[in-house]
Amino acid sequence: MNRSTIAVKVRGLTKRFGDFTAVDMIDLSVKKGEIFGFLGPNGAGKSTTIKMLCGLLLPAGGEGSVGGYDIMKESEEIKKTIGYMSQKFSLYDDLTVGENIEFFSGIYGVSNSRKKKREEWVLEMAGLQDRRRAVTKTLPGGFKQRLALGCAILHEPPIIFLDEPTSGVDPVSRRNFWDLIYGMSRSGTTIFVTTHYMDEAEYCDRLALIYRGRVIAEGTPLEMKQKHMPRDVLEIEAGRPVEAMEVLHRQGIETALFGSLIHATVISAEHAIPTIRKAIEESQIHVFRIERIMPSLEDVFVTLIEAA
Ligand SMILES: Nc1ncnc2c1ncn2[C@@H]1O[C@H](COP(=O)(O)OP(=O)(O)O)[C@@H](O)[C@H]1O
Ligand SMILES: [Mg+2]
Repeated sequence: MNRSTIAVKVRGLTKRFGDFTAVDMIDLSVKKGEIFGFLGPNGAGKSTTIKMLCGLLLPAGGEGSVGGYDIMKESEEIKKTIGYMSQKFSLYDDLTVGENIEFFSGIYGVSNSRKKKREEWVLEMAGLQDRRRAVTKTLPGGFKQRLALGCAILHEPPIIFLDEPTSGVDPVSRRNFWDLIYGMSRSGTTIFVTTHYMDEAEYCDRLALIYRGRVIAEGTPLEMKQKHMPRDVLEIEAGRPVEAMEVLHRQGIETALFGSLIHATVISAEHAIPTIRKAIEESQIHVFRIERIMPSLEDVFVTLIEAA
């Protein structure tokens, strides 16, 4: 692949805290303009990885580049090239909206000629045109989050790192936030985002799943479901679904209820379907339908993490 189409590329990225290896020999590559989702449970190493990519934390080992700059030697250049929104939005709660924007314009060295335009852009993007003088801590969560994003990208960086940007934000604000992310991606900005919301993972172009400091799967959402899922998922429609689930549990089959439908995770759909039908029907419960379905990303991640 041509180097210039790559926004982020690292190999063997490692970070230790004392004896503990928080990030363990990670390889990642993100194309320009891509929305790259970095997923994993709490403590997996997402924030530590992001901080190394942003030049905020020196790796213990590894090599690579962000925006064409060396992660080991050019962290100052990297900081100017990227936008970073940390897990705890880094706004000043006691400043007004306008003062926060002013402050971050200064930090990012936005030139005087561009400043006014960028400030207006943030206010509009965050829906805060009428609240320029509002104290930041009085804003509802969704507004604060969009303001934090705006402040992180005042300097129009080509690569943006977002660390759980939507955690604790209401669903409507999350949706709006993703519309903004899509818009930026369409105009060529690279987005590297961590999340633990599986519906958000579906919105990404490509994903990597990290667990205990290691990347355990990588691919598009579709590839994750087709290639990385070591199990088949069956959807079962039966009378008395809760009782039917108990029957399956006794057979050692893992199940979950989705409305009145049962999802069962099995090694092989072909072998399991007749066995399951028989077991349920022997308990005098009618089986309307059993079929193999495309697993959800949640199914895939739960299975992969259990296997790891
Ligand atoms: N400064 C630090 N000192 C010691 N341990 C740390 C430090 N930062 C993170 N860790 C540990 O490294 C692991 C990964 O943390 P983190 O990258 O924050 O995970 P995530 O963002 O995926 O929840 C966790 O076990 C965490 O406790
Ligand atoms: Mg984190």
